Order: sequence, then structure tokens, then C-alpha cells
Amino acid sequence: MDLYQPEIVNINGEEFRVYLTHEEIQQRIKQLGKELSKDYKDKKPIFIGVLNGAYIFLADLMRYVTIPCEVDFLKLSSYGDEKVSSGEVQELKEIDADIEGRHVILVEDIIDTGLSMKFLADKMNRMNPASVSVVTLLHKKEATRYDLQIDYTGFNIPNLFVVGYGLDFAQEGRNLSQIYILQKG
Ligand code: IMP
Ligand code: MG
Repeated sequence: MDLYQPEIVNINGEEFRVYLTHEEIQQRIKQLGKELSKDYKDKKPIFIGVLNGAYIFLADLMRYVTIPCEVDFLKLSSYGDEKVSSGEVQELKEIDADIEGRHVILVEDIIDTGLSMKFLADKMNRMNPASVSVVTLLHKKEATRYDLQIDYTGFNIPNLFVVGYGLDFAQEGRNLSQIYILQKG
């Protein structure tokens, strides 16, 4: 299988280089899937993926989850086409599932300021679920300004813009199979 994985990629005039390889990502996701399968045994959790960015991560993660579970999606937008958060969360699509009494696992591609996840976790908690936990593939710890609990983190990364593996820059770059970081200077 020939995955799309150049060493360097240019998107909208900015240069990005490989930061996490396909193998590193898959290895970590496998561990997360194992951990979740153990922690949620007999709980039939519902995974809720945050569109668009988390679609590839959630698809891969699910394949390493070995217990009964469900999946749903919602869609948020806070970035528009910029590299910095707009500071506002817009909900573009709601979940279809009824989560009352359910064990909810929110799945994000990346937590940056934490605004989106704070908004979502608060919203989910108002729907009376049995529990809500947060899984994120990437966390920019230095950038996080909101107080929120992150239960499972794939990788802590520096406060630099990244693309690939579902994450975009102005909607491009989601099809890269690895994660790329903005070249400084
Ligand atoms: P937050 O609300 O500031 O935590 O931002 C979270 C959302 O912004 C994520 O779900 C991503 O969609 C997007 N985002 C944050 N940082 C990046 C990045 O480095 N690359 C691509 N998207 C990002
Ligand atoms: Mg996102």
C-alpha cells in the first residue's frame, strides 16, 4: 500500500516536515485502544468523534477497540481557515444518539486552547450521561488555557501548527498519512 507520506510538504505557501510517522501513530493508537477496551469493559461506551479533524483517528482507534461500543459524530468549527483559534465555537452538526445514562468518550484530533473541548464536555454533561471522558490524539499543553480533564492523550506536542492524519491547514492536508509540523523561520 502506497500511503501519501512525503518528507516535506508545502501547503498554501508554508512548509511542513514530518513530526510523527505512520508507525509511531499506529503504535500509540493501538495502546490507547487496548487501554480503552480494558477501562470500558462491560460499559458499552459511545465514542463521539469531533468532525472534521478526528475522523481518521477515530476510524483507526475503533479498530483496536475489542469490546462492544457505538459511534456517533458531531461537528464543530473554531478555526476557520486560520492557524490560530478564533476564540469562538460554532456547532455545525449535533449528535443523533441519546446519551442519557451512557458512557461517553469524546474523541478529538487535537486540543489546543481547550475551548472546543471545554464547550463540548460541558454540553455533554448537561445531557445526563453516566460518564464523560476525553481522548485526544494530540495535546498542545503550553497553549491550553481552559481547565479541563483529558483522560487519554496520544502525544504531547509543542505549541506549533500541525497538519496531516485528518488535521488540516485551510482544509488541506488531511490525506497525509503522517503528522507534519510547521517549519520554523
Ligand atoms: P481549541 O478549541 O483551541 O482547543 O482548538 C481545537 C480545534 O482546533 C481542534 O479540534 C482542531 O480542529 C483545531 N486545531 C488546533 N490546533 C491545530 C493545529 O495545529 N492544526 C490543525 N488544526 C488545529
Ligand atoms: Mg477539530
